[in-house]
Amino acid sequence: MDTITRLGVVGCGLMGSGIAEIAACRGLDVLVAEATRAAAQAGRRRITASLDRAVRRGKLTEELRDQALARLAFTHDRGDLANRQLVIEAIAENRDLKTEVLRALDKTVTDPQAILASNTSSIPIIDLASVTTRPEQLLGMHFFNPVPVQPLVELIPALTTSRQTLERARHFATEQLGKQVVQAPDRAGFVVNALLIPYLLAAVRMVENVAAGVEDIDHGMELGCAHPMGPLRLLDLIGLDTAQAIAESMYEEFKEPLYAPPALLRRMVAGGRLGRKSGQGFYTYG
Ligand code: CAA
Repeated sequence: MDTITRLGVVGCGLMGSGIAEIAACRGLDVLVAEATRAAAQAGRRRITASLDRAVRRGKLTEELRDQALARLAFTHDRGDLANRQLVIEAIAENRDLKTEVLRALDKTVTDPQAILASNTSSIPIIDLASVTTRPEQLLGMHFFNPVPVQPLVELIPALTTSRQTLERARHFATEQLGKQVVQAPDRAGFVVNALLIPYLLAAVRMVENVAAGVEDIDHGMELGCAHPMGPLRLLDLIGLDTAQAIAESMYEEFKEPLYAPPALLRRMVAGGRLGRKSGQGFYTYG
């Protein structure tokens, strides 16, 4: 199986920065594209801070951190991605934006063998593949937050994805990034979010109905079921806006009431309480 040496990552928020970081640590040449110069600089700072933290915790030497940083380049011009062998789109969970980016990447990336992947959490992959001229070379590669910690990548072939593309992506995720993969169906939510999101939304409804307190719900699941964090703390980690967008995609596909974002979630997102990234969600962050 051929090895990917030149990776492109579009978007350097929570997920894109994590993907770029682990790939650079694993020896790949990584080019990160953001929409603006300021966003690209913020992305570089986020990855540098994460690598510095790994050095402080004794997981990485300073030398390896510097080598990883040297393999990372940032641009605000997507045209620079032309020579990439694999480009992973990891922008906000918004169907129109993702469609626009993938359509543009299809024109920009010149390698006829290149794979285009989306880190979407819930949007049907076929809807993204069908806006490109190479639907057989597009698939979903869904990482989990925090990317350096969570071992899983869901691989989601669309109806149109070729077997070769799927096997190259599997090889990349397992052999090159050291992740474990599950193959997931191209249904909104794939495997993990199809199970996780209704549980998280049920916890929000429990708060909404004043049936239990935020900390009691979280402690209940942490201590009773050995979850590393309870559902409300996890929502704060994922981002309430992202969780709402995932729930909306799933609701749109299945019309299943359990997937409908509860009013409290919508109000919190409308009020800018997005979780850790905004400093306030179900908890407050310093
Ligand atoms: N980057 C790198 N390493 C990190 C990290 C980060 N952002 N956050 C935590 N870690 C590492 C720490 O360095 C530490 O490693 P060591 O023990 O080897 O030193 C380890 O993870 C534990 O970290 P902490 O002690 O700081 O904190 P913790 O024990 O509370 O763990 C956690 C934090 C890893 C986030 C853990 O609580 C956890 O796994 N929570 C569940 C997260 C989860 O379910 N993620 C999936 C979300 S769903 C998703 O992402 C998909 C989607 O589409 C919505």
